[in-house]
Amino acid sequence: MDRPKTKELYDQVSQIVPGGIHSNIRFMVPYPYIFERGKGSKLFDIDGNEYLDTVVNYGALILGHGDPIVTEAVRKELDSGLTCGVESETSIKLAQRMNEIIPCAEMVKFSLSGTEAVAHALTIVRGYTKKDKIIKIEGGYNGWSDTVIVSLHPELRKAGPKNAPKKIYETQGIPKNAKQNTIVIPFNNAEVAEKVIKRNKKKAAALIVEPVVFNSGAIMPNPGYLKQLREITEKNDIVLIFDEVITGFRLAPGGAQEYYGVTPDVATFAKSMANGYPISAVAGKKEIMQVCTPGKGVMYGGVYNGSQVCVAASVATLDQIRKGDVQKRMNESTAYLCKRFQDIADDHKLKAQLIGLGGQFCVYFTDQEIVDYRSAAQSDKAQSQKFHRNLLENGVYTYDGYLFHNGICAAHSKEDLDAILTAMEKSL
Ligand SMILES: Cc1ncc(COP(=O)(O)O)c(C=O)c1O
Repeated sequence: MDRPKTKELYDQVSQIVPGGIHSNIRFMVPYPYIFERGKGSKLFDIDGNEYLDTVVNYGALILGHGDPIVTEAVRKELDSGLTCGVESETSIKLAQRMNEIIPCAEMVKFSLSGTEAVAHALTIVRGYTKKDKIIKIEGGYNGWSDTVIVSLHPELRKAGPKNAPKKIYETQGIPKNAKQNTIVIPFNNAEVAEKVIKRNKKKAAALIVEPVVFNSGAIMPNPGYLKQLREITEKNDIVLIFDEVITGFRLAPGGAQEYYGVTPDVATFAKSMANGYPISAVAGKKEIMQVCTPGKGVMYGGVYNGSQVCVAASVATLDQIRKGDVQKRMNESTAYLCKRFQDIADDHKLKAQLIGLGGQFCVYFTDQEIVDYRSAAQSDKAQSQKFHRNLLENGVYTYDGYLFHNGICAAHSKEDLDAILTAMEKSL
């Protein structure tokens, strides 16, 4: 794709914005994409190129770009003159919707981003349990706050034994002693989880887990694994947090907890909650959540928490997806992509597999079964990057990182899916 205007603007902006992007994941070689508009399943860049979007705002887009009902709700809210730092009937309506839809949401509190929701959740559970340590999953991402920005995609040669992973920061700039309160365990291994939890039950406040580890592509929980985590945490008095920033509202209206029938104590939400508008939430059991009632000991702050345009966008989004037909269709579309991709890979005798659920998926370049970060990391990185760059040249906007989730939204038609598959075949 020719992108001369993009290059010219990128050369200018990278002088005043490091990397020319405001979240490093948006960087791409040789230079990032600069968009003019989005509509439904499509994005249009400033050079006039059209793309079928499979980044879908990193999972935040559930209905499609410029969804007319969400856009109208936002327009109407603008007329109120309210922006942020206030409560309104719209924010009350949103809290009620979440309480109705999400199994664990006896109480709910809004924030701005997924990182903030997780950081608030960790403060709440530490305040509630009076314990400091947090157990997280190797290969899982729970935002960029100090406690959890550990062992997302560590280099395998530095990562230590599979069942006792070393704690490795994803970034410089975190105080060395911050990770003393973090414990890392592998996904899909209830035996290790039980051992570690029993050993740390006096010090560990919570186990936080993405029910499907989309931040290492798309790692599905083994049958019964989440239920086992529920039982082990309950038995040992440790709070179970589901990080549903991606799975929330996508797998089912009530998220992964509804889809898998396992109710955590606390859960975090963002992304699909408002079809791309910035809002997030912590939801959980009343007994735990009420520690952040004013005067009860745990601070909960944020000027932009539940800002008016975003709560309006969220109510308009949830009202369209609460019946479950959107999720059913996206689950069917994802299964279709998996099956058709496998046919293509097999035809070309390639060791590749597309795994996904709820409109999020990952193409792994390995035929190994993907059960945890270590198996996901067997995917061929060079092949993966080449594939994604070819996809971009074939008119599909995709993220070129390996071990990353791409996706579709409700606006992707059957024709869109077939066009994505055709581009995938060419790109392979
Ligand atoms: C599971 C999960 N948790 C937390 C986050 C952090 O969310 P945000 O980027 O809105 O801070 C993300 C973002 O990708 C995520 O996927």
